[in-house]
Amino acid sequence: MMQAEEIERLIKISKERPLMPETYVPWSEQPLPEDGYLPESLISIQGLPVYETLTSQQQKDIGRHEVVQVLYSYGWGEALFCVFMAKFALELPPESPEHRFLIREIIEEYRHQEMFAQTIAQLNGKPLIQTTAHRLSGKISTNLLPADYLFMGSLAVELITDKYGNYARRDPKIYLVLRKVFELHNIEEGRHIHFTKGLLERYTEKAGFIKKSLYSFVILINIHFVRTMYVRKEIFERVGISNADEVFKQAKINFHKKFSENCLDDIIKFVNSWGGFNIATRWAWRWLLDAKV
Ligand SMILES: [Fe+2]
Ligand SMILES: [Fe+2]
Repeated sequence: MMQAEEIERLIKISKERPLMPETYVPWSEQPLPEDGYLPESLISIQGLPVYETLTSQQQKDIGRHEVVQVLYSYGWGEALFCVFMAKFALELPPESPEHRFLIREIIEEYRHQEMFAQTIAQLNGKPLIQTTAHRLSGKISTNLLPADYLFMGSLAVELITDKYGNYARRDPKIYLVLRKVFELHNIEEGRHIHFTKGLLERYTEKAGFIKKSLYSFVILINIHFVRTMYVRKEIFERVGISNADEVFKQAKINFHKKFSENCLDDIIKFVNSWGGFNIATRWAWRWLLDAKV
């Protein structure tokens, strides 16, 4: 279980080493002609024959539109999570370490949301809004799910965004502003993940078979939803691909495969650490995410 001193240490780091988007990100840097926007391993149609038929401008534009979807989804997910954290914090004694850390986290998450919004504007992005299913499930789960399930879900999303951030910030072919945005986010999310994991140990220690299975499903569904937000048919139309319908179908399959190969290892490790893969859940992970569990 996470000790009070450990949370105090995280609060101290957050106060003494804050990462301010205003100064950390070199906003005045414009993209170089050769810069990309999303690592190839994360571009939905990279790897398909149709990708090779596109001009390099079209390839870059797809990366730009897809990274805008990623930034938009992060901001939206964090905004929902802030709504929940604000309610949760209201119930805690104000002087408790948990309360004070959550306030730090909320502050940081709002800075992130502003940073993502500014990045989208700088990329001339026009985010495609979520489908009704996404919007509804986000709102319903934020309002109805108990706290432990919401922390599970948000940790799942944080671990995925962390993966994306790692690929993007380490790729020297990516536009510098994006690399720094992802780097900042990666560092601060590392602290949030540490806190959330500690908090969840309390819940998973006591959990029996049914609860563990439910946690596992909440995580699975969150990842499934996140994954479906990035790839959109409209993007292929925007860059002038004529058979956008067909390309979209192929891109979805291709992206799912890449996502399973590149983005799931940390999440699988986490779920495995408290026994979230069992006879009730394993099939669903294999079926929905093609996870090797
Ligand atoms: Fe964040
Ligand atoms: Fe976070």
